[in-house]
Amino acid sequence: MFKLLIKKADNLLPGGVDSPVRAFKNVGCAPLYIKKAIGSKIYDINGKKYIDFCMSWGAEILGHGNKYVIKCIQKNLKNGINFGLTNNNELELADIIKRAIPSIELIRFVNSGTEAVMSTIRLARAFTKKDKIIKFDGCYHGHSDSLLVSAGSGVSGIINASSAGIPYDIIKNTISLPFNNFYLLKETIKKNYKKTAAVIVEPIPANMGLILPEENFLYELRDLTKKYGILLIFDEIITGFRFCFGGVQNLLNIEPDLTCLGKIIGGGFPIGAFGGKKEIMKMLSPLGSVYQAGTFSGNPIVMSAGITVLKILRKQDIYEKISSKINFIAKEVRKLKNIFFSYFGSMFTIFFTDKKVKNFDDVKKCDFKRYKRWYLRMLKDGLFLPPSQFEVSFISTAHNWEDIEKFVRITIKNLK
Ligand SMILES: Cc1ncc(COP(=O)(O)O)c(C=O)c1O
Repeated sequence: MFKLLIKKADNLLPGGVDSPVRAFKNVGCAPLYIKKAIGSKIYDINGKKYIDFCMSWGAEILGHGNKYVIKCIQKNLKNGINFGLTNNNELELADIIKRAIPSIELIRFVNSGTEAVMSTIRLARAFTKKDKIIKFDGCYHGHSDSLLVSAGSGVSGIINASSAGIPYDIIKNTISLPFNNFYLLKETIKKNYKKTAAVIVEPIPANMGLILPEENFLYELRDLTKKYGILLIFDEIITGFRFCFGGVQNLLNIEPDLTCLGKIIGGGFPIGAFGGKKEIMKMLSPLGSVYQAGTFSGNPIVMSAGITVLKILRKQDIYEKISSKINFIAKEVRKLKNIFFSYFGSMFTIFFTDKKVKNFDDVKKCDFKRYKRWYLRMLKDGLFLPPSQFEVSFISTAHNWEDIEKFVRITIKNLK
């Protein structure tokens, strides 16, 4: 039956999936086909239960199928599904986000993180009347053309598209630099500031495994961009509302010019959003000349799910509870040899190396074979982690101490 399902998927979807990482190619096993997910558990079509440490790639901070979210969307569905027009839920979610993240004076909702970043870049270029964008190696900002680049060496300035089908003309204005290398950033900005519209960064990168910024890196980045008239974009699609009621910008007291959000703010439904200073956001159509639109943007059901999740996050001491669980994992796993356990708030990554991992080059030097061996054993033992060394693992409020202790026990067993 399982083989038939794989064949069916392969005949219907390219590679049997709608998003490449779901094919489990990085860990070399058959994909999971999921039947249902409740709380911290996910069940495959054979009925096997896994503790889920992927949590819909970070979108489900309250666990799968939170009862308050379900109740709320059921209630809202009675009023219709999509209006394609402005509604109250949209305003309420916008108001909650604006109050939580002061750098966001105006916000626009879209349907995915990719869309949010793509439109933010367009806006930054229009506002500054400049074309170049600086990003960091290993940071992911969705699959829009101008950001799908893989750098050569940061010093050489050579850039390649990381996907076929992207003309060089589109990426020639993208510069990619190593994360946490302030010297290179400064030199590049000094050389390119007249043509550079924005620097975009995941303030806590989570798409090359979890990497933490060096102590002053983000402050220096803010100072430098301000000094040289370059906009600073924080891509908080993963980090927004993950560590506190706001973004990494609240934690660090840094004000970016523009912010991208997604995942958590949609309560598990498709969403993206971008916002920032009024003078920039006012350039968006219909007020200004930057075009951006969407049939499903501000969908009342999605908005209601987001409102429910954010209200719960605002009310309860959820962040501390989740991070106490991560701290426990860190304490135990860090006792193991040749492991670098990177963690913050509700996210973590196990890197197989005895060195500190500070950027994408360091990640690429880790022992991927060992990661794969550990991963497959974990899966067999009923623990589902994101199937790639480049993805981070997530803990939700639905993970109880039993889930956490099991993770530690089985990780230790599988690494011996
Ligand atoms: C930091 C970041 N930006 C953008 C995106 C793209 O979001 P989406 O998958 O909703 O298009 C992602 C997706 O994981 C992300 O992690």
